[in-house]
Amino acid sequence: MSVNTPQHIAIIMDGNGRWAQLQGLKRVKGHEAGAEIVREITTYCSKHDDIEQLTLYAFSTENWKRPKLEVEFLMKLLERYLKNELDTYMGNNIRFNPIGDLSGFSRPLLTTIEMVQEKTRHNNGLVQNLALNYGSKDEIVRAVNKLVKENSEITEESLNSALDCSSSVDLLVRTGGDRRLSNYLLWQSAYAELFFINTLWPDFSTYELETIIHQFTTIERRFGGLKS
Ligand code: IPE
Ligand code: IPE
Ligand code: MG
Repeated sequence: MSVNTPQHIAIIMDGNGRWAQLQGLKRVKGHEAGAEIVREITTYCSKHDDIEQLTLYAFSTENWKRPKLEVEFLMKLLERYLKNELDTYMGNNIRFNPIGDLSGFSRPLLTTIEMVQEKTRHNNGLVQNLALNYGSKDEIVRAVNKLVKENSEITEESLNSALDCSSSVDLLVRTGGDRRLSNYLLWQSAYAELFFINTLWPDFSTYELETIIHQFTTIERRFGGLKS
C-alpha cells in the first residue's frame, strides 16, 4: 500500500439539515440519515489497513446555540446510535474514543458513552474519535490549564499530549459546501490536506471517500521542506 495513504482522517459531517429540508423533511430527519453514513464510513475505514484514526465532528461547543428541540433530538440520537452500534464497534475491532468536554452531557448519556468506551477499550483496529461537545479552542484551553495545574512546562510536545486528540490529521474533509473549520482540530490540522466538497453529509459515500483518498495520495506533502 502506498506510503501516502492518510493514517488519520478527520471529517466535518455538515449538511444534514439542508439535506432534509431539500426534501421537505424536518431537519432532524437529516441527522437520522447522517447517522447511517457514520456507520458506513467508519466500517469502511476499519477495513482499510493504513487508516489508524477517524475523527468525526458530531457536536460542537457552539451547537448548543441551536433550538432546544434539535439539541434534544441530537442527544437522543447519539445515545441510540452508540447503543445500536456496539456490535459494529466490536465486530470490526474499532475502539470508540470520545473527544471534547463530556462534562456538558446528561448522566444517562454519559453512562452510555462510558459503557461503549469501556467495552471497546481493548479493540486494536481503527480508533474512531467522536467529537462531542468539542471545540478546538476549548480543547487547547483545557490542555493548557491541565499543564499549568501540574506545574509542567508548556512545550509543543507537552501541549500536544495534553490535548484530547494528540494525533496530527493527514486528511481533513468537510462536506456541505462551506469552506471553514468551525473550531475543529485547529492544532492537529496544522499540516492537514483540506478537502471541501459540496455533497451534503447524508449523500456522502465510501465511493466518494475513496476518490478523495486517491487524490490525497497524489499530493506532495512538504511540511515546510523542499520537494524530495
Ligand atoms: C451537521 O449538519 C450536523 C451537526 C452540526 C450536528 P447540520 O445540522 O449543520 O446541517 P446544515 O449545515 O444546517 O445543513
Ligand atoms: C460544524 O458544523 C459542526 C459539526 C459538523 C458537528 P456547523 O453546521 O455547526 O458549522 P457552522 O455553524 O456552519 O460553521
Ligand atoms: Mg451545518
